[in-house]
Amino acid sequence: MTQLMPPLDDLLVSEEQASNLTYFAFAKAHNAEPALAPTKASVGELPDVLAGRYRIERLLGAGGMGAVYRARDLLSEQFGDPDPYIALKILSEEFAESPDASALLYSEFALIRRLRHDNVLRLHSFEVDTDCQRAFITMELMRGLTLDKLLCERPLGLPWKELRDIALPLLDALAHAHARGVLHGDMKPSNVMLSEEGVRLFDFGLGQAEEGILPGLPHLSRNRFNAWTPGYAAPELLEGQPLAASADVYGVACVIYELAGGKHPFRRMSSTEARDGQLERELHAPRNLPKRCWPALRTALAFDAADRTITAAQLRDAMGATSSLLQRLRLRA
Ligand SMILES: Nc1ncnc2c1ncn2[C@@H]1O[C@H](COP(=O)(O)OP(=O)(O)O)[C@@H](O)[C@H]1O
Ligand SMILES: [Mg+2]
Repeated sequence: MTQLMPPLDDLLVSEEQASNLTYFAFAKAHNAEPALAPTKASVGELPDVLAGRYRIERLLGAGGMGAVYRARDLLSEQFGDPDPYIALKILSEEFAESPDASALLYSEFALIRRLRHDNVLRLHSFEVDTDCQRAFITMELMRGLTLDKLLCERPLGLPWKELRDIALPLLDALAHAHARGVLHGDMKPSNVMLSEEGVRLFDFGLGQAEEGILPGLPHLSRNRFNAWTPGYAAPELLEGQPLAASADVYGVACVIYELAGGKHPFRRMSSTEARDGQLERELHAPRNLPKRCWPALRTALAFDAADRTITAAQLRDAMGATSSLLQRLRLRA
């Protein structure tokens, strides 16, 4: 579970303070006054239809800061689209009341929009319902199972062939994000979906752009709040270091380890507790992982970021490489 966070105002570090942010989208069309940030009184309950177009049907999931609903796009439906269903992410009422909440949601939108990959969730739009003064993201509706649910159904882990079909696309998606300067920040089983259309990496809500990428976005100080998921967050994150690609590598390695044998690598402990208890000494290859993949996965699980000398792309290549025996057999066939 993502831990509770302090008030949202504390999360934004802008050079000239948050009051300088302008919320054009929140201004109602007839309002000649300068756009105002939503106040506590103006943030209403969710209407049945958002922005005159998206009919909310049911809750799909709720996390630390917001909720995701299944909705029907009435406009697409009107044009005869056979599948007018979408997913819609909106900050929970509590967070929506903060003047900076929409900046946080927009930052998530902007990060994912930089990515174009079959295994990354596809976004449609960032919108605002001016009546209820709430910003939201629309995106593809994924139908399937998140990996945490899959693990509940398969407590002994997945056989190598099935594991590989999840691990390779997942690592490829992460390698793509890193190549585009996007850090995920919250790699864990519940943020990966095995959907009808394949593996999808999603929830960049704690993500960040590398230095120099998307410079116009307000800087969200991820290290000033403790929102990491202890069982998957690298020790340096829990100790207040800034997010880096190597922390995502640690998280994804925990996910792959768990898929391979049904067990978390460090008995579900936080990485700092596991490190202090020297749990790496009892770490062994998970049952369904071919031996040749273990050195790479083991490196990705290093507690010290300096020893985690493998990138997501290298881990993908190590997991994807076929053994020389297999290669020889295939060549002969
Ligand atoms: N596009 C989507 N399609 C279907 N279900 C989704 C979608 N996005 C999120 N969900 C569901 O909602 C849950 C919460 O979404 P997530 O983006 O992870 O938000 P949070 O930041 O609150 O964790 C997910 O674990 C998943 O079950
Ligand atoms: Mg999530």
